[in-house]
Amino acid sequence: MKDLDAIAPLGSPEREVLARIPPDRLPRHIAIIMDGNGRWAQQRGLPRVEGHRAGIRAVREAVETAARLEVEALTLYAFSTENWKRPRWEVRTLMGLLKEYLKKELHVLVENNIRFRPIGRIGELEEEIQRGLERAVTATQGNTGMLFQIALNYSGRAEITDLVREAVRLAAAGTLDAGAIDEAWVSAHLTTAGTPDPDLLIRTSGEQRLSNFLLWQVAYTELHITPVLWPDFRARDVIAAVADFARRERRFGGVLEGGSEGAEGEASEGER
Ligand code: IPE
Ligand code: IPE
Ligand code: MG
Repeated sequence: MKDLDAIAPLGSPEREVLARIPPDRLPRHIAIIMDGNGRWAQQRGLPRVEGHRAGIRAVREAVETAARLEVEALTLYAFSTENWKRPRWEVRTLMGLLKEYLKKELHVLVENNIRFRPIGRIGELEEEIQRGLERAVTATQGNTGMLFQIALNYSGRAEITDLVREAVRLAAAGTLDAGAIDEAWVSAHLTTAGTPDPDLLIRTSGEQRLSNFLLWQVAYTELHITPVLWPDFRARDVIAAVADFARRERRFGGVLEGGSEGAEGEASEGER
């Protein structure tokens, strides 16, 4: 957390909150379901797309704050495979905003030493978007700081389905043996390969569901649901979520060290 002063919008109460969190209680990977843009706009008598436009600032602030907290990875759910069901104008606006983001915000990623990686069925997106994504990946591939994963045309079920297809293809070609497939193999063949599972999943707008996000990866993720609508989400809300996470007791199905029974047993395999 070396660059705390650079988080411009952070007031002193948030700084105090942060100062009280032991560094080993910070999440390595934060995932966010950015929700509530439509309701934010409707509350103001605006068309839904204005909520998406206003959400860009929240994206910038979440990315910068996470980078400055020195988390290893931030994954934002930007467009699900189910979001194609929305009115055509809304989908077109979302894709337009994505193109604009890739043009205008790339320098923020470069300046903050952030690596960029899109996840999802990227090959089904417009060519111009695919090229913009490739440019962002190339421009940031030498960076050594936080990994920013953006989930586009993504769903957990689609990701797992694609992996099953790939496994069957490899098996049919004789290059994969069923016995070689274990949980580590699955993790290493998902689109998030190489990234630790999220420690903390934030969902804005109060909805209490996963909506097909990172289904495999969130097996033991801590959930933080906030009523704040995405366009209103700021650095202080990231800090509040991180502070909430730092208070959680994670057991991964085991018992805590020092617990009356756990103290006698050996550390289990799944302990991390
Ligand atoms: C999240 O906001 C943005 C996307 C899903 C792309 P919504 O558009 O889902 O906003 P609500 O949930 O309708 O308020
Ligand atoms: C989840 O939000 C998808 C993204 C944030 C991209 P939705 O608004 O699409 O989810 P539901 O329909 O409320 O479950
Ligand atoms: Mg929604």
